[in-house]
Amino acid sequence: MEIVRDIDTLRRSLAAERDIAFVPTMGNLHEGHLSLVRIARRHARRVAVSIFVNRLQFAPGEDFARYPRTFEADCAKLAAEGVALVFAPDEGVLYPEPQAFIVEPPAVANELEGKFRPRFFHGVATVVLKLFNCVQPRLAVFGKKDYQQLMIVRAMVRQLDLPVEIVAGETVREPDGLAMSSRNGYLSAAERAEAPRLYHTLAEVKAQLEAGSREAGALGAAAARRLAAAGWQPDYVEVRRASDLASPDPRDAQLVVLGAARLGTTRLIDNLEVSL
Ligand code: PAF
Repeated sequence: MEIVRDIDTLRRSLAAERDIAFVPTMGNLHEGHLSLVRIARRHARRVAVSIFVNRLQFAPGEDFARYPRTFEADCAKLAAEGVALVFAPDEGVLYPEPQAFIVEPPAVANELEGKFRPRFFHGVATVVLKLFNCVQPRLAVFGKKDYQQLMIVRAMVRQLDLPVEIVAGETVREPDGLAMSSRNGYLSAAERAEAPRLYHTLAEVKAQLEAGSREAGALGAAAARRLAAAGWQPDYVEVRRASDLASPDPRDAQLVVLGAARLGTTRLIDNLEVSL
């Protein structure tokens, strides 16, 4: 497995191979990431993975500095998965000067995650576009765990005519339901025991929708209250249309329940698709 740190070497290494499936990551890889790598392997001859903690998508006061960096262990996992190339640029390689050109995502980027993490999706879209330009993959794999991110990347690819197919990977969960996330490592033992409640709360909303309730707003608000009563600080629990994250119409049959809440100092997000 080749480890590449700069864009020139990356382009030279990949020049002869156009059938590349790409998995962008911020490292600290777990089974969720590896499931995306396995999807990538099924789709293309060569898999390239990036490891880059993107400062642009962290607001001041967020966890950029303490975000777990486990490069050696990540590379061992990727080598075992048959990954051909890891692109791991330093900040000065991707951002040699202050990044003044920023991708302006659609209005949905200001809702849900964007309401609580202003400019998060500007940072995500900008780095994903840069990474696509560097790697020039035929296809890229994103996890549904970050459902809104997946929707915004799809919209960017569509609206900017990027020649990349976006493939979605299912969320990988711990046996108790907790969605795998690098941020789970921040949880204390007591918080870890409590953490699956987010998934179970979203599952309750899903069950209520499946049972016929169409009071999306009330279901989400009640779910957020249940999390708060259990000691969480919920940012939102909302039911949206799955295709574009718009507020659902009572006739919409494909929905997604999305939630974000803080447990102690750790902010967790999750979502569940609902097919009625
Ligand atoms: O989902 C992530 O890990 C990041 O948002 C991404 C897509 C690698 C961009 O930094």
